[in-house]
Amino acid sequence: MFEGQTAVITGGASGIGLGIGRTLGRLGATVVLADLDAGALDGRVSDLAAEGISAHGRVTDVTDVESLAALADFVEGELGGCDLLFNNAGVAVFGPFVSATVADWDFTMGVNFQGVVNGLRAFVPAMTGRGSGHIVNTASMSGLIGMENLSVYCASKFAVVGLSESLRRELAPHGIGVTVLCPMVVDTPISENSSRMRPVDLRNDVPAPDVTDNLVGGVVTVEEVADLVVGAIENNEPYVLTHAEQAPILHRRAARLAEAADRVSGR
Ligand SMILES: NC(=O)c1ccc[n+]([C@@H]2O[C@H](COP(=O)([O-])OP(=O)(O)OC[C@H]3O[C@@H](n4cnc5c(N)ncnc54)[C@H](O)[C@@H]3O)[C@@H](O)[C@H]2O)c1
Repeated sequence: MFEGQTAVITGGASGIGLGIGRTLGRLGATVVLADLDAGALDGRVSDLAAEGISAHGRVTDVTDVESLAALADFVEGELGGCDLLFNNAGVAVFGPFVSATVADWDFTMGVNFQGVVNGLRAFVPAMTGRGSGHIVNTASMSGLIGMENLSVYCASKFAVVGLSESLRRELAPHGIGVTVLCPMVVDTPISENSSRMRPVDLRNDVPAPDVTDNLVGGVVTVEEVADLVVGAIENNEPYVLTHAEQAPILHRRAARLAEAADRVSGR
């Protein structure tokens, strides 16, 4: 199914994006890793090429519309277009709501939410023109349930879930599938990368508190996540979740929402 397809992956130089790229490359796809981290990008493209994968690297800032337009021009002009789009670049900013600065909001929403919007705006018109393709937007379990000390991150990821669910309906008649990836904890260097890649004008004077102890559930590998994503594309599934521990939490949320609606209908 993936042989001869072109996959574009933002945040592809590390973690989940790189895992998806490697898995799809091994399945015969041409892979375009798009990432702000130019140094990592060079190394990871060489790694994939050494495995015999057709891999390209493009330095891209998902917060910059022009940067994504240049990526789309490259993919359309040199590779014949994008079949599989992964809006995956993301950053983690943790801490209590009262400590969150305007810079925290701008940085997090800029990459995690507006970055997804920018990726979609750059690629969806050509994909609908061709009438085929699949889009995977990376959200998080934090896009499905609110958590303490994660309000900024949760807000950005809930937005990605809502956008993805809407687009899934809207793009189905155009032959395009949409999946939203909602992992719990995955073994990646997201905390280090988020500090390192944060633009100077959006930094805080005082570093954010480390609240990662609050995170529940085991840690899965990027390879496990990539396999789940590939299966979801094959079956055009709306959601990818990564941990069995997510089920009881989501059942509780759904039950509370339904109870609230029942209270209205019982009035
Ligand atoms: N690791 C987890 O536990 C976890 C859990 C849930 C969701 N996620 C989400 O998965 C996605 C991938 O994260 P990861 O864990 O693989 O982290 P990662 O840090 O390993 O990879 C993210 C990549 O995004 C890149 N990036 C950051 N800002 C960018 C920008 N402005 N433009 C382009 N690229 C940029 C980074 O350079 C990095 O290579 C993110 O959206 C993250 O929020 C991760």
